[in-house]
Amino acid sequence: MRDLVAEAKVSVLIDAGQLAERVAELGQEISRDHERKDLLVVCVLKGSVLFFADLCRSISVPLRMDMLAVESYHGGTQSSGNVRFVHDLREDVSGRHVLLVEDIVDTGRTITHLVNILGKRGPASVKVATLLDKPSRRVEEVDLAYTGFEVPDRFVIGYGLDYAQYFRNLPYIGVLEGPAELLNA
Ligand code: IMP
Repeated sequence: MRDLVAEAKVSVLIDAGQLAERVAELGQEISRDHERKDLLVVCVLKGSVLFFADLCRSISVPLRMDMLAVESYHGGTQSSGNVRFVHDLREDVSGRHVLLVEDIVDTGRTITHLVNILGKRGPASVKVATLLDKPSRRVEEVDLAYTGFEVPDRFVIGYGLDYAQYFRNLPYIGVLEGPAELLNA
């Protein structure tokens, strides 16, 4: 697998400059909406880790950070429909304004599950910031307070998003074009 990844052909969908510009805009919007609010920004691991790091740096109001991890895919490109909680928050969310930071909302199952779970813990609010939105594949209706970019129905990688755990380190969002052995791996 590692050798195939080294030979991968990736076409750029959203370049690093576009990402930086949009993330800065989202940070300003979130800052305006959370003046004088107790803000807890939650990184949904692992896919949103780079977006989370850049977004937090562009938010100018005081905030606290926490992380949680779920699994909704099992190595390939198809959603299993199962969402498994593998690491919970350490912070108490009661009375706080929670901002869940996601890499991509696809079917909407993962984020719906998380919003429902956290909503039961007595937060002042739960909102979602997603870098990417793939609305064509939606199964669950989701309220996205902040969206970076809408993307077509292609499997995207980079800037935190993986294919078989690789490609998260790409500084842009791209589409995997080959080699065929990698696409079918
Ligand atoms: P959903 O539950 O179908 O909305 O899927 C959400 C999760 O699936 C995301 O947080 C990603 O981890 C993963 N995912 C969905 N689409 C893609 C994609 O195009 N590339 C990489 N990961 C994806």
